[in-house]
Amino acid sequence: VPSPAQGVGPNYQPDGEKPTATVSKEISYENVHVLSQTPQLIALLTMIRDKRTARADFIFYSNRIIRLLVEEGLNHLPVVEQSVTTPVGRAYLGVKFEGKICGVSIMRAGEAMEQGLRDCCRSVRIGKILIQRDEETCMPKLFYEKLPADIADRWVLLLDPMFATGGSATLAVEVLKQKGVPEHRILFLNLIASPSGVAEFAERFPKLRVVTSFIDQGLDDKKYIIPGLGDFGDRYYTL
Ligand code: PRP
Ligand code: URA
Repeated sequence: VPSPAQGVGPNYQPDGEKPTATVSKEISYENVHVLSQTPQLIALLTMIRDKRTARADFIFYSNRIIRLLVEEGLNHLPVVEQSVTTPVGRAYLGVKFEGKICGVSIMRAGEAMEQGLRDCCRSVRIGKILIQRDEETCMPKLFYEKLPADIADRWVLLLDPMFATGGSATLAVEVLKQKGVPEHRILFLNLIASPSGVAEFAERFPKLRVVTSFIDQGLDDKKYIIPGLGDFGDRYYTL
């Protein structure tokens, strides 16, 4: 099933004059949140999907999407009432974040999302899980994990830009659960997901939340996301 196409542009641009672009598939799981398909997001995704985009631009534009994901992810953390007094002596009733958080990146590609998290959450603790997909079988393999000692008391922002079969993210969640992190305190931040991977994941972990910028068309016979952007880790770090 092709991904939906729609007119993308600011509201003052009449529908008939907006350029047609491919937007994210919709998905009907309450625990999956897809970023609003704004002209900015679609333009950023267009840059990083383009095979001609060189590494410096790939890094710059994917960092901008990562920032949007982190900002949206933070909206899913609980807040409590907070009243403050302004310099003119008036009260303002607002909120503040409650609870401790940490990031956990699925290496290598997930490490690219750490700076975006740090930019929003100063001195945030960050754990690492090294999981690599076997190039032949596409099955994920766990090599290493190093996580904050009190991770079971924290909200965990799990970071991985690519979500293909979902095997790597599923294994990472199993590791977190073994460490005592309750599923409802895990928030998975992701750039591009395959529809089958994200649907299976959402059903398997109904209390965990996923924030992604795009649900793509599907997977090819090598289990790469299509249209996708190729190998994120290679394009960000080595290509
Ligand atoms: C990529 C990506 C995910 C995984 C997605 O990592 O960053 O971790 O594949 O595929 P899946 O959903 O089918 O498991 P890869 O293992 O290629 O390693 P890298 O981070 O070093 O590029
Ligand atoms: N990992 C990637 O980097 N890209 C894909 O499309 C699938 C796995």
